[in-house]
Amino acid sequence: MPDPILQVSGLTVEYAMERGAVRAVDDVSFDLDPGEFIGVVGESGCGKSTLLFAIAQLLAPPAEITGGSVTFQGRSMVGLTDAQLASVRWKDLSVVMQSAMNALNPVKSIGAQFKDAMRAHGVTSKAEIGDRSAEVLRMVGIDPVHLKSYPHQLSGGMRQRSMIAMAMLFTPDLVIMDEPTSALDVVAQRSLMVQIKDLQQRLGFAVIFVTHDMSLVSHFSDRLMVMYAGQMAELDAFPSIRGPRLPLTGIPGAPPDLARPPAGCRFAPRCPQVMDECLTTPPDLYLVGPVQVRCLLHSPTHGPTHKPTQNLRNGTSAPGSPADSVSSGAAGGAAGSVATDEGGSHE
Ligand SMILES: Nc1ncnc2c1ncn2[C@@H]1O[C@H](COP(=O)(O)OP(=O)(O)O)[C@@H](O)[C@H]1O
Ligand code: SF4
Ligand SMILES: [Mg+2]
Repeated sequence: MPDPILQVSGLTVEYAMERGAVRAVDDVSFDLDPGEFIGVVGESGCGKSTLLFAIAQLLAPPAEITGGSVTFQGRSMVGLTDAQLASVRWKDLSVVMQSAMNALNPVKSIGAQFKDAMRAHGVTSKAEIGDRSAEVLRMVGIDPVHLKSYPHQLSGGMRQRSMIAMAMLFTPDLVIMDEPTSALDVVAQRSLMVQIKDLQQRLGFAVIFVTHDMSLVSHFSDRLMVMYAGQMAELDAFPSIRGPRLPLTGIPGAPPDLARPPAGCRFAPRCPQVMDECLTTPPDLYLVGPVQVRCLLHSPTHGPTHKPTQNLRNGTSAPGSPADSVSSGAAGGAAGSVATDEGGSHE
């Protein structure tokens, strides 16, 4: 096993609001291996973007990391100076945002923006900048003639692909993507997804891919993390066994107010399998075979062989239980609430 490229441990982020602290990310822990593709799914407002921003150290007040750690390539990301962060960003770690229209500078050509990024990292040779800019655009299927184009002259899909090309300028080891396809129509989403996966397999970088649409990402991910109300609700180690066990239909209702989350299970108000205990006891993460599930149906007092864990790497070696035993819990748990485009999500 190689060392993980990223270790997130107990990460907690709060927005300081007048009505009280909104804990948008609550004690999230996971590791990412080099070259691994993890999909992060969850309804709108569950803390996905906040988690990514915390990992990339892009948070701004009123958001603050109030607990936990982020270790990237063996060094802590929390507390790095702006200069230290600037040297990591783009080179070792790139971030692709939901809307290229917001991320790209509207008054500069694509080529000029690539040039700025390369110059910021000490590349001054005109030829090198030109060659590399053309190369990354070609990688995402765009004719390099568009280096001269301004963002508004490109289609939505081309803008997103330009952003991904820019993220590839230095062939980073980790690319963090926040709903990079969600502004596109279904067909364009799929083709961009295929392209991202192809790039990842060719270049070998690790990916954290956030989306509210589980059906989009499940086939492309090595693992899938489901977030609900700021917490990791499920972490699936082997998507190959996933099959149809996670229902992709929307479950009625909405996630709770994160300033006042329910005392017990955060999914209880919407859960078809809710028990009395769920209203008072916050579930831990429990191992069900290779999967971690935050649901009391899988606590040792309910299930025969399951034991609580916070460590997913241990998860794979735990006594296995049949994959179909996962389905009942996951179907009843918050993971089942992940919306498809037709579901309850409102982006
Ligand atoms: N700028 C902000 N100020 C205050 N609260 C915020 C801000 N951004 C997000 N939040 C809170 O954090 C929660 C998670 O938001 P976010 O991380 O954007 O979720 P997602 O990306 O899953 O849609 C929201 O429900 C909201 O309560
Ligand atoms: S998801 Fe599990 S713990 Fe939560 S309310 Fe449903 S049965 Fe209870
Ligand atoms: Mg978001």
